[in-house]
Amino acid sequence: MVEKTKIRKAVFPVAGMGTRFLPATKAVPKEMLTVVDKPVIQYVVDEAIEAGIEHFVFVTGRGKAVIEDYFDIQFELEQLLRERNKKAELTLLEDLLPKAGTASFTRQQAPLGLGHAVWCARDIVGDEPFAVLLPDMIMHSEKGCLKGMVDVYNQTGGNVIAVQECDPDQAHKYGIVGVGDKAGDGFKITEMVEKPAKGTAPSNFYINGRYILQPEVFNILETQERGAGNEIQLTDGMLTLAKNQDFFGYHFQGDTYDCGAKDGFILANLAFALERGDIRPSIEGPLKQLVAKLK
Ligand code: UTP
Repeated sequence: MVEKTKIRKAVFPVAGMGTRFLPATKAVPKEMLTVVDKPVIQYVVDEAIEAGIEHFVFVTGRGKAVIEDYFDIQFELEQLLRERNKKAELTLLEDLLPKAGTASFTRQQAPLGLGHAVWCARDIVGDEPFAVLLPDMIMHSEKGCLKGMVDVYNQTGGNVIAVQECDPDQAHKYGIVGVGDKAGDGFKITEMVEKPAKGTAPSNFYINGRYILQPEVFNILETQERGAGNEIQLTDGMLTLAKNQDFFGYHFQGDTYDCGAKDGFILANLAFALERGDIRPSIEGPLKQLVAKLK
């Protein structure tokens, strides 16, 4: 087997406007909204850490500086915790802090689309395959989504995209892939179609927001024309790349919460809170009462 280049870097495009979550996102980036007691972005970074990522590249934009602050030391706060002997809280903050030099921040000067945001990371990523994680999608499962993708990549090389099954009636809302032969623990992708017309989707496997891409995608994105929504789309760049390179699918079978949308965000809070031994006992009863009222 040919040795594969290790996936060391992950790009988190956090420059979107978050219009689906107004008015909250007028002043707070959607990635900083909390699911139980951690910002959404922390869950996604944790997924990357589990997959062996060593360098975290955040593509930020106007109003997103607080994300950079979150991944830095808060000196006064830590000093105060030390003075008050709050060891557990101190350890928590220390554990979450990326090692010095392992987080990079670059700015997308205008929200021209996801493809453009990824392209903004080209100098920091350089000439090696890398991961992209949509930072408002929380994936929940025993084995992290990106970890499963890295395992497939180590078998297949090339580009790997995570997919999940949707209701076939809903396929027209998503980016859908065509399913080819089995390849390692994944499968060969035969085609990718963005929002196929009703009844024409090649499968019900939709692209869920996790990608492992080869660096050649940057050259393609450099001259990528604007596509759907008048934005530079990552999918269009991948379609061009797929003419010369293999794409493989990884079927993620856990739960996905779209925290860029109000319903997904609320469900994520409920699901994660119910898993917490310190919270579940006090919300279980009231939650059941709320649900009973639905009948
Ligand atoms: P979304 O369409 O979900 O993000 O883009 P958005 O624009 O923030 O949200 P809405 O639709 O207005 O509510 C998917 C991901 O791509 C990033 C977003 O931050 C999000 O994580 N993105 C999108 C950028 O970084 N830059 C862009 O120009 C567009």
